[in-house]
Amino acid sequence: MKRQQLRATAIVLCAAALIGFDGMAPSSQLCAADTQSFAEDILPLLKWRCAGCHQSGGDGYEKSGLDLTTYEGVMKGTKFGPMVIARDPDVSNLMLLLDWRVAPQLRMPHNKKQLSKCDRDAIRAWIKEGAKNN
Ligand code: HEC
Repeated sequence: MKRQQLRATAIVLCAAALIGFDGMAPSSQLCAADTQSFAEDILPLLKWRCAGCHQSGGDGYEKSGLDLTTYEGVMKGTKFGPMVIARDPDVSNLMLLLDWRVAPQLRMPHNKKQLSKCDRDAIRAWIKEGAKNN
């Protein structure tokens, strides 16, 4: 009897811990920084997930002209025009491509796993904050 009670208590505690943890640390709080830094938050992400194709000699660069290894390259955009509109992530083509709100062949990163919501929200926030070279 005593043993059973103990086990029941343990289960309740365990469940409370799980719910408590969830309540205290929603993913939005875990990944959102106060201000985004291009050099420290955004560029490493682009280098890691995009630059393999988006630099001189890469498939993405050869097809679109988009170099994602520098601030200047990101802001210049493709040979067809800018991909980032400072302060306006909703009309920035970059976000449409990353959120996969475009035809499958234009979803980025091309034929790879979609960027996590955290990573996309970081880029979104950086654009909203003015797409600065900070
Ligand atoms: C495996 C290679 C590859 C990777 C990785 C990749 N891209 Fe691309 N990207 C391409 C190719 C190829 C094109 C040209 C697509 C076309 O025009 O058909 C392209 C085109 C683009 C374009 C221009 C689309 C347009 O409308 O002209 C943007 C913006 C872009 N990529 C952003 C990114 C971003 C941001 C990442 C990283 C999250 C990324 N890409 C990762 C291959 C890649």
